[in-house]
Amino acid sequence: MNIPLDQLPSPLFLMHEEKLKRNLELMRQVQQEAGIKIILALKGFSMYSTFPLIRQYLPGSTSSSLHEARLGAEEFGGETHVYSPAYREDEFEELTNYAGHYSFNSIAQYLQFKDRLFSLRPDAHAGIRINPEYSTVSVDLYNPCIPGSRLGIRAEDLPDTLPEGISFLHSHNLCESDSYALEHTLNNIERLFGKYLPQVKLLNLGGGHLMTREDYNVDHLISTLKAFKAKYPHLSIILEPGSAVAWQTGYLVSTVLDVVNSKGIEVVILDCSVSAHMPDVIEMPYKPKILGATEPVKGKPTYRFGGQTCLAGDFVGDYSFNAPLKPGAKVVFDDMMHYTMVKTTTFNGINLPHIGIWKQEGSYQHVKSFGYEDFKSRL
Ligand SMILES: Cc1ncc(COP(=O)(O)O)c(C=O)c1O
Repeated sequence: MNIPLDQLPSPLFLMHEEKLKRNLELMRQVQQEAGIKIILALKGFSMYSTFPLIRQYLPGSTSSSLHEARLGAEEFGGETHVYSPAYREDEFEELTNYAGHYSFNSIAQYLQFKDRLFSLRPDAHAGIRINPEYSTVSVDLYNPCIPGSRLGIRAEDLPDTLPEGISFLHSHNLCESDSYALEHTLNNIERLFGKYLPQVKLLNLGGGHLMTREDYNVDHLISTLKAFKAKYPHLSIILEPGSAVAWQTGYLVSTVLDVVNSKGIEVVILDCSVSAHMPDVIEMPYKPKILGATEPVKGKPTYRFGGQTCLAGDFVGDYSFNAPLKPGAKVVFDDMMHYTMVKTTTFNGINLPHIGIWKQEGSYQHVKSFGYEDFKSRL
C-alpha cells in the first residue's frame, strides 16, 4: 500500500476515495444500462463526508430510523426513503420533514399513519414491505425470510387489492448475494405477488446485491433487470445496497502496542478493539483480511490479534507475516468501511477510531477525531 501510514493517526478508519469512485462508476453503469435507480442504504455506510461524491452517482438514500432519515435528507439530499419494522407515534411527524418514500411493515401501521402522512406530506409515496419467502442467506441472523420473521408481509396475509394509497412494493431478502439470487427473488415475487404488480408504480428490491464484488456477474444483473422491466414497463425499479457501495473501499489502520506470549501463542495487543470497532467479526462471525498477512504458515512469524478491551474474546484468529511484528508496527485490516463504522461502540471507554480519507490525488484528508465527550455523552 502506497500510503505513509506512519504519518497518520491510529487507529484510523481510512476511506480510499479512488476505490469508492470505482464502485460508484460501476453503479452508474448499472443504472444507465438497466434503466433503474440505485440508492445508498445508510445502515450499511453513513460516512457523510463522502456523500458529496456519492451523490454525483446515486440519486438518494434509504434509512431505517428518524436519525438516518434526517442524515439522508440533510447530508445526502435527493430522494430519501425510509423503512422501519414499526414507526413510532412520537417520531412520525418529524420524519415527514425528511423522507419522501415510506415503506410500511404491516397494513395496520399503514392505516395508523396514512392520514397524517398524506396531510403533512402530500407528495409522499407509501409502500409495503413484502416477504418473498426466499433467501440464499445461510446465517439466520441476516435472513429476513426465516420462519417467524417479523420483516415483510407474506402474500397469504394480504387482501386481493392493496389499500388505497399504496404505490410501491419493497422486498429485502438478500445479503452479499449474486445476481442469480436476485433472478430467483424476482420469480418468487411474480409467483406470490404477481397480482399486485399492476397495482403499484414502483418495486424496491432492497439491498444485498453485491455488484461491486470481483466475481459478481454484472451483465447478468443488467439483463435480469431489463427482462423484468420489459414484462412490467409501468414499474420503476430501485435497488438499495449498502455493502456494495462501500465494498473494499477502505481500512481500519491500527498499531501494535504489545506482544505477549500465552502458552506458546504470540498475541499482539492492538490500539483498536475487535469487539468495539469491528463487531461483525465476532457477530457474523468472519475472519478479516490483514494486508501483508497470510493464513498461519509453519516457520513464519505468526500472531493472534487482540484488542484493547478486557473482553476475553476481543481477538481475531492467527495470521503469519514475513517479518516479526514489534510495538509501533502498523496492522491494516482490509474492507472495513461497510457496516463496521456504523456499528462501533465505546465499550471499556476505548476511544473511537479517527476517520480520514486517502484522496484520489494522493493526499490525506483528516475528517474527525473523537474523545472523552463522545464516550461520556452516551451515558
Ligand atoms: C431493508 C434493507 N435495505 C437495504 C439493506 C442494505 O443491505 P446491504 O448492505 O446488504 O446491501 C438492508 C440491510 O440489512 C435492509 O435491511
